[in-house]
Amino acid sequence: MSPDSPLSRIGDPLVRAATTAPKVMSRVRGGLARAAIRAVGGSCGRRLRIEKGLRVRQGWHSGIDLGDDVYLGRDTTIDCPRGGRLVIGSRATLTQGVFVSAVAEVFIGDDALIGEYCSVRDAAHGTALDGIPMRAQPMEPDRISIAADVWLGRGVAVVAGAQIGAGAVIGANSVVLGDIPSNAIAAGAPARVKRLREGR
Ligand SMILES: CC(C)(COP(=O)(O)OP(=O)(O)OC[C@H]1O[C@@H](n2cnc3c(N)ncnc32)[C@H](O)[C@@H]1OP(=O)(O)O)[C@@H](O)C(=O)NCCC(=O)NCCS
Repeated sequence: MSPDSPLSRIGDPLVRAATTAPKVMSRVRGGLARAAIRAVGGSCGRRLRIEKGLRVRQGWHSGIDLGDDVYLGRDTTIDCPRGGRLVIGSRATLTQGVFVSAVAEVFIGDDALIGEYCSVRDAAHGTALDGIPMRAQPMEPDRISIAADVWLGRGVAVVAGAQIGAGAVIGANSVVLGDIPSNAIAAGAPARVKRLREGR
């Protein structure tokens, strides 16, 4: 069949429906979650979108604060026990398979772009060699801040106590410990500054 034939256009509405339906569903999921977050005293801006597979391991609660136009991609995990605080700024995008654990506080600023399979965890198991298995040792939390317009490449691990300045870029598969200055491009394990971003 020629691509110009009228018959070839019969599929157009189906193609449109197939691409539009998942977007509609992500908004429906977002709308339901927004209502749930607000019902328990948390805060959530407008137009939240959530793809399939979201896990909210400790439930929504008043320590959760999402801005406008937040996008939680497929298979996002949020692990924020009561008493913890999680802030995700407006237009922040968690692309796919991102794991965020906020035992104390995780702040993700406006317009942050979190690449697929990143891990952002503000608490680590104790490592004392005292006969208690590490999985049973108390967690040691230390707040994480990822400022506005930060881009984390895929698979970045941001560990307890990390502070990433506004506009910084972190290379794929890096491990962020401590502070990364604003507008730096940093990479590696541990992530080290390679250079600063420049104007076009
Ligand atoms: C960090 C990044 C943006 C840097 O790009 P760039 O500015 O073009 O930098 P360069 O390729 O010139 O590399 C600069 C230095 O950083 C190193 N580097 C770059 N990316 C790195 C990474 N992920 N891990 C370790 N080192 C890295 C380079 O080896 C080079 O080191 P050198 O100066 O010692 O030779 C890019 O490498 C990257 O990781 N992008 C993420 C892509 C991604 O994950 N996309 C999907 C998620 S949205």
